[in-house]
Order: sequence, then structure tokens, then C-alpha cells
Amino acid sequence: MTEQPASTANQMWGGRFAAGPDAIMEAINASIGFDQRLYAQDIRGSRAHAAMLAAQGIISTSDADAIGEGLLTVLSEIEKGGFPFSTALEDIHMNVESRLKEIIGEPAGRLHTARSRNDQVATDFRLWVRDQCDATIDGLDALIRAALGQAEKGADWVMPGFTHLQTAQPVTWGHHMMAYVEMFGRDLSRFRDARKRMNESPLGAAALAGTGFPIDRHATAAALGFDRPMANSLDAVSDRDFALEYLSSAAICAVHLSRLAEELVIWSSAQFRFVTMSDRFSTGSSIMPQKKNPDAAELIRAKIGRILGAAVALFVVMKGLPLAYSKDMQEDKEQVFDAADNLMIALAAMTGMLSDLTANRDRLEAAAGSGFSTATDLADWLVREAGLPFRDAHHVTGTLVAMAEKSGVDLPELTLEQMQSVNPAITADIFNVLGVHNSVASRMSYGGTAPAQVRAQIARWNEMLGEKA
Ligand code: ARG
Repeated sequence: MTEQPASTANQMWGGRFAAGPDAIMEAINASIGFDQRLYAQDIRGSRAHAAMLAAQGIISTSDADAIGEGLLTVLSEIEKGGFPFSTALEDIHMNVESRLKEIIGEPAGRLHTARSRNDQVATDFRLWVRDQCDATIDGLDALIRAALGQAEKGADWVMPGFTHLQTAQPVTWGHHMMAYVEMFGRDLSRFRDARKRMNESPLGAAALAGTGFPIDRHATAAALGFDRPMANSLDAVSDRDFALEYLSSAAICAVHLSRLAEELVIWSSAQFRFVTMSDRFSTGSSIMPQKKNPDAAELIRAKIGRILGAAVALFVVMKGLPLAYSKDMQEDKEQVFDAADNLMIALAAMTGMLSDLTANRDRLEAAAGSGFSTATDLADWLVREAGLPFRDAHHVTGTLVAMAEKSGVDLPELTLEQMQSVNPAITADIFNVLGVHNSVASRMSYGGTAPAQVRAQIARWNEMLGEKA
């Protein structure tokens, strides 16, 4: 590039530069295209910083007042839309400060005393991710309530429980729904934990070493709702573990969403017909008039791809970075923004889909009894009532299943004589355990599928949610 006149040097840091950046340099360096999403957090952080500088006698109260007011003007200008963000000004921090200077003049230059963009961006981003944790916690709360609603409605509806997607034992619809309530409940607690750990203020760490100005980091931490200032300035500006924790929690949550989405795709197929999706959460086909497609579920199922991708991307960015700040870290934001946007829409879509979903009780019950689903109950009866060792009972039952399969009937349709031909200890009492309702009702172990157990868990959840509301 040919040398450019000194006037093109960056107005924020161009003092030692004779020339402005190459166009490519500007393009790779600028983050304003995405970090403008941090404007509210940036202005909030700057206002807290300016007020603290004045309280500590580092700048005058009148300058701090002008800065505080001016920043509010910038905030409302950005919120109105059409704010002229400039790539030459690199990022949200310099765009805001530059506009502040246009509005209030000289005092704007005092805002950056005892501060660096390194602690500024760490503060802004923590505030943003913290807000996102709160939004995610609310989203999960709504989703848990939707799943609880399904569980309450069908606490004693029977359905097939699967292992290897082969019929295993009858379970209840409520039990299946409550399994997801537990998963989403752990997700919720992961975001709560992450929020708690990230709630410390980097502001005042300055570039990396702290500052010689008599700042009050406890005051800015409190003003921004942080529990305390971070205790090490190098750590404060150079770690992004809070973002990694958010992304990890988001990825685990997305896995849970994806598994439920997959079940809804299977269950809504013509072969299963376990559930009917509402029209509001289905789409049609432009060529096949009969089609009602579970697109929302499919898209939720896919979201784990980009959310986990974002987590992996940031892990790789951070690995091997020496302390303290490196520009690599500017690559943290797009990953988190994309993951957050997609997690929020996935949570909302799943909540809507679940709330609207009709579980087809009769169809679930018919399927629950097929596939010799009560074979384990039969074996357990032989152990309990006929004193057989479980391995022998397993063998006898296997023989009976083969017999039923050969005759094209289900286990309860075998005659007592047929059963006694395999093991004479069998009595008519066996038929009491072969029905699917008896089967689920018998599984009273804590956390088991018996409706009474499921209702106890629903009550526990309702109580916990009620306490929180
Ligand atoms: N836009 C930058 C980022 O997101 C802000 C921090 C810049 N700091 C620096 N020393 N150049 O990381």
C-alpha cells in the first residue's frame, strides 16, 4: 500500500501512526458488524465507570455528569435505529465514545481514564452473557411447565417403553414426559450455576495490570449488579471461561432438545401415530397434499450442530493463548450470539410444540401391549410366586414368548394350559400381571413408572416451581 496522510490514522489510538490501515486490515480488524449488540451493556458499563471516577475525585463531577447524560443520548440514538456505526472505528466501544465526543466534546476524552478496551469488552460481554443466562432460565422454566402439563394430563396413560427402540416394558406417558422435565431441570440449574460463577466484575483490571489511579472496583461491580470485582487483573481481561460455560450448558441443553425433537418426529409418523402435532407447529408439502411435516422438531433436532459448533470453535480459539488479552478473543462474540439466538428459538419452538401436542391415548395403549412388553412381569411372577431363580424364570418366559409368537398372539392370549405345558407351577393368577396397567402400577420403586410415583414427582416439581414463582 502507498503511504497515506497522517489524518487517516485512527482517532482513538492513532497518535503514533503516520498512516491509516489498509482496507483489508480494517476489514479483518473490525468487530462493529456484530459487537454492536453489546451497545446497552457498553453504555451501562461506561456510565458506572464515569460515576466512580467522579466519586473518587479522578474526574470532575461536571464532566462525569456530561458523560453520563451524553451516553444516554447515544443509547437512545442507537435504540431509535439507523445509528451510523463506522467500521473505521472498529468496535462498539470506540463507536460509542466517538459519538459521545461529537455530542459533549472534550469531557468525552476523560471517560477512558483508568480503563482499557480489554476490561471494557470483558465487562460488556459478561453482562451480555449474564442477561442471556437469565433469558435461558426463563425459557427453560416455560418449557418445563409445558412438559409438566403433558405429564399431568397423561400420568397414567400407558405406552411402550423402549430400549434399542425395541419394545421393552410398558411405561406411562407421564413418566416419559417427566424424564425430560428432569433433564431440562438440570439444564436450568447449569445456567444458574454458570451465572453465579460469571457474576464478577472485570472492570478496573484496565489493560492487564490494574491501574495507578485510585479507582473503586467494588463500587463499579456493585453498580453493575456483580457480586464482587474479579480478584486478578490478568485473569479478568484474558479468560472467557464464562462464555465457554454458557456454550457448554447450551450444548447440553441442545442435546436434550434434540432427543425430544427426534422422538416427536418418530412419534408423529404414520407408522407410530403416538402424537398429533398441532397445525400451528407443522408444515405441509408443496407436492404431496396428505403431508403434515414436523419441521419445527426437525430444526430443533439440528440446532445442536451449530450450538456445539460454537462451543468447539471458542474452545479452540482459547486453547494455547498466552496471558493476557489477545485479539483472537474478539472471535468469542459471534459464536455466543449465534448459539444464544438458536437456543432461544429452539426453546420457544419446543415449548409451543409441547403445549399444543395431542398424545393419542388409545394408540399409545394399544402399542403398549404389543411386542410382548409384559414378558418381564411374567418372569418376575415366576420368581415371586413360584420361587424360580430369575435366570430360570427368564428361560421359561422366553419359551412362552416364542410360543405366543408362533401362534401369532400376545402373551395374555396364551391359554393357562399352554403356559402350564412349559411350567406346571403357573396358575391363573399370572394373568393379573400380564395386563399393561397392572404392569406399570406394579413399578412402585422410587422414580419408577407407576402412576402413583409419577404423580409424586409431578407434585414435587409443581411445588418447586410454585416456590420460585
Ligand atoms: N473489539 C475488541 C474485542 O472484542 C475489544 C478489545 C480490543 N482490545 C485491544 N487491545 N485491541 O476483543
